[in-house]
Amino acid sequence: MQLKIAVLPGDGVGPEVTEQAVRVLREVANIHGHNFLFEAYPAGGAAIKASGSPLPRTTLDACLSADAVMLGAVGAPECDHLSFDKRPEAGLLQLRQGLGGFANLRPVSSYRALADASPLRREIAETVDILIVRELLGGLYFGEPRGISSQNGSSVAFNTMRYSASEIERVTRVAFEAAMKRRRKVTSVDKANVLETSQLWRQTVTRIAADYPRVELDHLYVDAAAMHLITNPQRFDVMLTENLFGDILSDEASVITGSLGMLASATIGGAVDLYEPVHGSAPDIAGRGVANPLGAIASAAMLLRYTAHLEDEANDIEAAIADVLDAGYRTVDIARGAAGQMVSTVEMGKLVAEAVAGVADMRHAYHAV
Ligand code: IPM
Ligand code: MN
Repeated sequence: MQLKIAVLPGDGVGPEVTEQAVRVLREVANIHGHNFLFEAYPAGGAAIKASGSPLPRTTLDACLSADAVMLGAVGAPECDHLSFDKRPEAGLLQLRQGLGGFANLRPVSSYRALADASPLRREIAETVDILIVRELLGGLYFGEPRGISSQNGSSVAFNTMRYSASEIERVTRVAFEAAMKRRRKVTSVDKANVLETSQLWRQTVTRIAADYPRVELDHLYVDAAAMHLITNPQRFDVMLTENLFGDILSDEASVITGSLGMLASATIGGAVDLYEPVHGSAPDIAGRGVANPLGAIASAAMLLRYTAHLEDEANDIEAAIADVLDAGYRTVDIARGAAGQMVSTVEMGKLVAEAVAGVADMRHAYHAV
């Protein structure tokens, strides 16, 4: 298989973790004889420094002509004084919009080896397997009008939460299709007791659900969902929600598995799919070689699954991650409660790459008998 992958390392720990994701993909290509071509482009604070724009036209064009995009992270404290449309984060939002992917998939599943790194008790943390489907191109992030103005000498700021039925419908279908391949349950999260957008959300989700009679649907208000997520995460299979609620709930869900650094994401449904770890640029630990690359590496596995349809290779990467954790290797963010061996970002990447080779051998041996 031939794949052209645009790599946007971005800011903070972004370049460190994407380097390891690329390393693992190169290993997969080696083992299976695939041809993956990687080309790096500036985005975020790094691009602002180089060209004044958080998403230069050349970067977006390169992404649009690639088979998939891998992003590290964007966000730089030295840009905090800039207006919203000039900040690194604006580059990411423009990229999401430019690529057109409206469904952001964030799988949250516990690793046996990490149960003690979770702030939750082992018996709650241990068997979590949730797919968060976050709407990514609507709601407060993109609604107009937005701005800050002044009224009678006092500042007024406003944002608009807006959803059309068709925007809700398309992401709902992604959630139900995903549920069909899982435990066949969708929990839709909204705030229908207060917001009109949520009333339309609930109506639309309920209507689409009729096309999937084998999938069970329930609805939760977002405040209750936040509570259930931490008290009884096993109740969730697919969690479907709008943009901002999904942003908040996915950070909450991530720590159940031990660390935000573990979480991967795929954004699908547009012209080109986008893969990025859920964590941010973490400027406080950037450049020290301690960031956890597993979220980025797991995002690379999602790329193989969703864009390349290389299910075996995707499974191999995920199995390799589990093996390395089982063997006791930890980056600092997941070291809590473990007697394991502390490793750097690069060492973790190398360990997973080596384990991928081992896992692929095992699979072949298994198929041969
Ligand atoms: C995420 C991030 C982004 C978001 C930021 C960096 C714009 O928090 O991917 O979850 O809010 O979507
Ligand atoms: Mn977020």
